[in-house]
Amino acid sequence: MWRNLTVNLADLLFSVSEAMDLSDSSLVHHQIRTAFVTSELARAARLDYDHIERLFIAALLHDIGALSPEEKIGAHLYEDLRPESHCLRGGKLFREAFWLEPSAQIVDWHHTTIKTHLNAGRSIDQFDVLGSQILYLADHLERAIQRDTFILHQTDKLRARIHGLLGEAIHADVVDLFDKIAIPDHFWLTLVSKDLARQLYERNLLRSIDLDYQAARSIASVFKDMTDFRSRFTATHSTGVANCARGIAEVLAFAGKDLQQIELAGFLHDIGKLVVPNAILCKPTRLTVEEYAVIRQHPYYTHRILSRVRGFEQIAEWASYHHERLDGSGYCERLGRAELDVGAKVIAVADVAIAIAERRPYRTPGDKATVLKELFGMSKKGMLEPQIVEALADNFEKIMTCAKYAQEADEARYVERYAMIE
Ligand SMILES: [Fe+2]
Ligand SMILES: [Fe+2]
Ligand SMILES: [Fe+2]
Repeated sequence: MWRNLTVNLADLLFSVSEAMDLSDSSLVHHQIRTAFVTSELARAARLDYDHIERLFIAALLHDIGALSPEEKIGAHLYEDLRPESHCLRGGKLFREAFWLEPSAQIVDWHHTTIKTHLNAGRSIDQFDVLGSQILYLADHLERAIQRDTFILHQTDKLRARIHGLLGEAIHADVVDLFDKIAIPDHFWLTLVSKDLARQLYERNLLRSIDLDYQAARSIASVFKDMTDFRSRFTATHSTGVANCARGIAEVLAFAGKDLQQIELAGFLHDIGKLVVPNAILCKPTRLTVEEYAVIRQHPYYTHRILSRVRGFEQIAEWASYHHERLDGSGYCERLGRAELDVGAKVIAVADVAIAIAERRPYRTPGDKATVLKELFGMSKKGMLEPQIVEALADNFEKIMTCAKYAQEADEARYVERYAMIE
């Protein structure tokens, strides 16, 4: 009997939340600090554990629908004139996973004013309205903090700013909650403390449960979409890599937990691209040396995000070594054949194969001959494992057709639910 995969939910959500804040220096700690203020307000509102957890999960990942660093910065600087698009996209992403779904409505409404709620006939007595108002206040407060000024020198200004939103944007009950929590200096000093994420993690606001494969897969799939939906050209890339890698792994007699891990490694291999701006990631013309260096950091961040999640140890390696080459010419670790596990070599081959088979702004999709020519060329140069390239070549139609079907299904989902939210 194969041991099944289990993944810690709290580790996974905290790690991705912190990673979302890495994309630009102006965003440092935004999700985590917003989550802290949210949890303090929820506690002051005397919500029970389940409701605090729902609200906390929404806050931790509230800007998940602002897919690129540029969009995150726009939302952060109040420059996003149509903030509802990142809210709606975020809410839709939340609805794709069982553990996130109960928080989806709060994400939808995190920039919705109380006036809009009341005009729509909704009341602050509804949990999702109260929750979204709490998140609205927390997000607004966090964005108003001047990062280069000592926090206790800004508290009066910040309090006044929140009071300026009373009535129009934020319900008086929620501003009252804020007035309760914002009195002690302790609140403000904790808010800007460097180890806030660890402090919050230790409060166990999020139950530390182990997800089984299906639950972990549904959340990993949301993070895959967050990574890939930034461009129509890459909208199904990780789905393709996951399915291709799984197909190769089956030929190589992987089974049980190893097959599950190879699929999730495929889903998550590019999650580190969170830190790469769209201007570079989606650039239709040739990258400069400096731009390429920015892209090259993504496997480092993939490793950083995944390696902190209990249950993802193996996946972190397989996913983040996908640009390593057997001759040591890859990145970011410059590992060689002896240091690379077969799972990492499979993801590397699948990544090259799927990338060539996909359409790009500057070229048409590569056909079978083009894909195989590139793969065999790289294996001859000592970059990819010949046995793995052969495993794919010998089963090309079966593996690539299966990957293509999965990509087409995801493309349809992307077009139907996400592409129209511009
Ligand atoms: Fe937002
Ligand atoms: Fe935000
Ligand atoms: Fe990559």
